Amino acid sequence: MTDVLRTSFRTGLVGSLRTEDAGTRAILVGWVHRRRDLGGLVFLDLRDRAGLLQVSFDPEAAPAEAIREARGLGPEDVVQVEGTVELRPRGKINADLPTGEVELRAESLRVLQRADPLPIPVYRTPDEELPMEDLRLRYRYLDLRRPEIQRNLMLRHTAARSARSFLDANGFVEVETPMLTRRTPEGARDYLVPSRVHPGEFFALPQSPQIYKQLLMVSGYDRYYQIVRCLRDEDLRADRQPEFTQIDAELSFVDEEDVFRIGEGMVAQLWRDVLEVDLPVPFPRLTYDQALRSYGTDKPDLRYGLEIVDVTETLQRSDFRIFSGTLGSDQRIRGVRVPGGAQLSRREIDELQLVAKRGGAPGTLWVKKTESGWSGPFAKALGGDVASSFEAESGTVAGDLFVAVVGYFRTGSEPGEQIPPWPESETPREAALDELRRHLADRMGLVRADEHAWAWVTEFPMFDWDPDNGRLVASHHMFTAPHQADIEMLKELTDGDFRGSRDAAWRLYSTGLRSRAYDAVYNGNELASGSVRIHDQDLQRIVFRSLGLSEEEAREKFGFLLEAFRFGAPPHAGFAFGLDRLAMLLAGAASLRDVIAFPKTTAARALFEGAPAPVDDADLREVHIRKRDDETN
Ligand code: AMO
Repeated sequence: MTDVLRTSFRTGLVGSLRTEDAGTRAILVGWVHRRRDLGGLVFLDLRDRAGLLQVSFDPEAAPAEAIREARGLGPEDVVQVEGTVELRPRGKINADLPTGEVELRAESLRVLQRADPLPIPVYRTPDEELPMEDLRLRYRYLDLRRPEIQRNLMLRHTAARSARSFLDANGFVEVETPMLTRRTPEGARDYLVPSRVHPGEFFALPQSPQIYKQLLMVSGYDRYYQIVRCLRDEDLRADRQPEFTQIDAELSFVDEEDVFRIGEGMVAQLWRDVLEVDLPVPFPRLTYDQALRSYGTDKPDLRYGLEIVDVTETLQRSDFRIFSGTLGSDQRIRGVRVPGGAQLSRREIDELQLVAKRGGAPGTLWVKKTESGWSGPFAKALGGDVASSFEAESGTVAGDLFVAVVGYFRTGSEPGEQIPPWPESETPREAALDELRRHLADRMGLVRADEHAWAWVTEFPMFDWDPDNGRLVASHHMFTAPHQADIEMLKELTDGDFRGSRDAAWRLYSTGLRSRAYDAVYNGNELASGSVRIHDQDLQRIVFRSLGLSEEEAREKFGFLLEAFRFGAPPHAGFAFGLDRLAMLLAGAASLRDVIAFPKTTAARALFEGAPAPVDDADLREVHIRKRDDETN
């Protein structure tokens, strides 16, 4: 029994009793999970945060009064019981419960609190479905009693403690940064807080502590961390919450490798502490370019193969119109060999068209190889020596399917090759191959489910494209250093009258200039991001300019950081892991909401407390806000 949890009400936790406790006396408190009446006997499953325990009331040990009272107990009543811990007879052992070999033979019962009829059940039979999620979120305090959610929150606690202890042991100092702050550069929408004392002015809630942690480096703290809440008013998806938690860190006098050693060391400790799994370190490193070329995505799931192959030159030699039509253009033909894929039905292969369309391609072309030869839409392209080159290049053997996509790609055909700029009207085809790979890996059962495939993806592009406004945006954030080898090109492309020209911006984007940003990916999920930062003011100015920010705008937005950089900024870099995502994947949970105590719905609402909520006009007046006439409550 855990002695620290002994109080004047109990000798220890219900769920922690084991065979070695047999024969001891115990006073226990907990919730009535389930009650069963068997003739003269009453059994309770008593529950606390450590688990369930069977409590038996029989006339030989318990007074008739206690048995009568036990028979009247309802779900979730809070009770105190006293008795002896006993081994269960052989045939009565419950192998599904950690406490299943013992029970408490009760001698007394005290009801501490009765529960009203429950709006949602806590106890369910194994085949009973969960209530609707909205209802569960409305009664979150009851939903949080579910053993699955309790386990998730305990696991999250272990994960946070593990990260803290690792960072502490590696010389990191935890510093708290403000919640009422100024716009941060993460690129999502801010939650704004009106100032009462400064009419018309607003605080922004931090999207991350990015600026502060860089300032802490300028101030010489050398290694900072914080387990910190971040707030982003962005469109929600399954893996996003408007309020989430980062394990945020920044280090001085480091390069990428130093940062990776810390990040993967922390993750390895976490996996040991939470799952008792030893992760192989160092994690594989692959550049963004390699990731996109081989897997079609910057967050590859390395638990299966299906690597992308470029078969352009070979297939262009055939007189198949779609392939030969790519001659003289910058379009490429790439695809994946699906081992054993020839067994897929026609309907399943037709479905691949829809999958590719989801990724922005007009469709796919495929070919099957069987003992009797090639079949499928591009079988006739494989005449003469084209077939043997294609076979050698793609590794296709009898029983396989090859699925190809034709068009523009974001990656050159050779590693390190200059990317040919693709037309603005085109969606690069990597996205379609990504969709196809994930679909096929799932369909063919290729994912090695017990693997933990971590990797660092490095050298992310410097810029992303905002198609709505036809302008460049920072792909990570604007304090991220450009790749050393691409600085000259960045300078060249941003010389002269760069600002304002959509064509020039597109050229800068589609040139694929690299940055020193990286992600940590795990089984196909992005779990962390970070970068080496710019600490040189001239370079920072060039980056601002390339993003269309004038000197005045940059000063207005980030002046305090730029000013600080003038007074001795060390080279520095950092990262942030998403704690919620880590906990979700460690717990094998389906949603972030299952690892957050009080999450928001996908419509960004808190259902239990009912937020957001209207505010009285008087309160609004105090913060100098007047509703528009068409927005009255
Ligand atoms: P970034 O914005 O990539 O980087 O965030 C880092 C990690 O935080 C998690 N995350 C989220 N988790 C849940 N809900 C969200 N809405 C959400 N948004 C992000 C992800 C992500 O990988 N300041 C930089 C880090 C740095 O450069 O040091 C940053 O915030 O797991």
